[in-house]
Amino acid sequence: MCGIVGYIGKNQARPILLEGLRRLEYRGYDSAGVAVLDGDTINNFKVKGRVAELEKILANQDLEGSIGIAHTRWATHGEPSQKNAHPHSDGEGNVFVVHNGIIENYKTLKTNLEKEGHKFSSDTDTEVIAHLVSKFLKSGDDLEQAVRKSLRLIKGAYALLVMAKSEPETLIAARFSSPLRIGVGADQLIIASDPSAILNYTSQLVTLGDGEIAVIKGTDYAISSLVGGGTIDKEIEEIEWDLTEAEKGGYDHFMLKEIMEQPETVRNTLRGRLISEEGKAVLGGLSRVEDKLRQIERITVVACGTASYAALIGEYMLEEYAGIPTEVCVSSEFRYRKAVIDPKKEAVLVLSQSGETADTLAVIKEVKEKGVLTIGIANVTGSSIAKETDAGIYNHAGPEIGVASTKVFVSQLTVLSLLTLFLGRQRQMSVTMGKRITEELLKIPEYISTILKTNQSILEIAEKYKDYNDFFFLGRKYNFPIALEGALKLKEISYIHAEGGSSGELKHGPIAMIDENFPTVFVCPKDSVYEKNISNIEEVKARKGKIIAVATEGDEEIKKIADEVFYIPKTLEMLTPILAVVPLQLLAYHVATLKDCDVDKPRNLAKSVTVE
Ligand code: M6R
Repeated sequence: MCGIVGYIGKNQARPILLEGLRRLEYRGYDSAGVAVLDGDTINNFKVKGRVAELEKILANQDLEGSIGIAHTRWATHGEPSQKNAHPHSDGEGNVFVVHNGIIENYKTLKTNLEKEGHKFSSDTDTEVIAHLVSKFLKSGDDLEQAVRKSLRLIKGAYALLVMAKSEPETLIAARFSSPLRIGVGADQLIIASDPSAILNYTSQLVTLGDGEIAVIKGTDYAISSLVGGGTIDKEIEEIEWDLTEAEKGGYDHFMLKEIMEQPETVRNTLRGRLISEEGKAVLGGLSRVEDKLRQIERITVVACGTASYAALIGEYMLEEYAGIPTEVCVSSEFRYRKAVIDPKKEAVLVLSQSGETADTLAVIKEVKEKGVLTIGIANVTGSSIAKETDAGIYNHAGPEIGVASTKVFVSQLTVLSLLTLFLGRQRQMSVTMGKRITEELLKIPEYISTILKTNQSILEIAEKYKDYNDFFFLGRKYNFPIALEGALKLKEISYIHAEGGSSGELKHGPIAMIDENFPTVFVCPKDSVYEKNISNIEEVKARKGKIIAVATEGDEEIKKIADEVFYIPKTLEMLTPILAVVPLQLLAYHVATLKDCDVDKPRNLAKSVTVE
């Protein structure tokens, strides 16, 4: 995710901004930049690549001044490049902006500004903010007013810092849905999206709330509401994290942080992509191939590991709601199969968090040579898979640092729901059904928050079960792939033997393994296959197997047969996997940490599998 640092005070801004950027590197980024006000000039330097590259360039430059802004960018709009790196300016060297988040209506704003004569030099959404502020400054507003007016026109999420040569004493900070904090030092203020960029200098922090703006002059700041004005008195919090803790947002591990931020992940994945009144999804990345997609009669989904389990759930969604025959194959198998695909009627959909998985890339190359339409779902903007596919959808989940995929899996399921809605509404899906899916998707972040509140009881269950050597994970239909994912999470971070499978296959072999030492996790929400799952639970119970169930809130019956129950809120059947996976991620996490395993870097695993 992008990172912001700003400085205003009595010292030189440059070393503090660069140190801040280095502290933000752990979050993942593709480019970096810094702007510092020196007399009547703002010097702005940007690079594609690492902060170290930026430092190399700056080694031969004067970058004097005690007010400045800096940024590490994780591309969302526009590929990773120097021109797309922040800070962005109004093109006249007056206004400079750094921004985290997504401006949903930037295209309309940009078109209007272009008509008024503004010239843009990047592909980013952020640049419109600099131009808007510049426009209002020219009409006579001061910097605060100009930022306020600009933000009233913007839809989306942001944390931002704005500086202007014409108002050299002032820095403006504002936030909506993206974090921003002010570190209050004796003779300086450091503003950052993440405490890790501040804590080296002060542990006194003020958090900007959603819809708040801070006008910072010298070492004074005044916070007010963006809509109502009126000063807001904020308490200064004392943050006693060490720097390593700060990078993890106060959590012990990145994996736990990433599990806990899943409500926000889903919000970010959905942002700007649903038209509730029409029950439709807007997927800008598919607009070029929209007509082609209308003709598609079959989809093959290709991916590896966790992404392939998301693909399996996508198969159920696309068949049931979009009426498109769909097949899933892991990339390493697909690339050596003589798969029969008709380029006129079929498309290949690939899923990849990293966008660099070698087997998946090989599949894209192979099918493209045959003229098949390729669609990518990737998290890393500008990654090879994003570039190689004909069209695609980004997850917008932010960097995933824990090797075990958690928040991106949930985001992949969210994207697949959006894609199902998109393709379904191109076909026979009714408006009513479209609206139903839309409504439920919007509730998912809240539902995930409800599950995350049960973390303590999941930890207690993990304590009871951590010494078992073997586990089954079973589920049916939409939740069969969740059983596979639950087993994969447990084995990859705790090294416990875990098998995932379909409940219906139990009698065809696996039941031979069941005894009191082989617990089974059943994913059995109240859905169309609930009764079938219950019969399987009875079969395991009859053989003295312990049962941990993932069930729907209000299902009291299940308590009579299961030894433990993780409850999830009720939602549409096709969306239950997004909820059901959350307690299983937490279970795996707690079992692994109780066994002192390195959950963020499990043995033998790499985050990105770039070799065959
Ligand atoms: O980057 P990708 O999504 O293409 O990676 C695919 C798999 O390597 C990945 O999901 C892997 O299974 C993870 N270790 C799962 O936690």
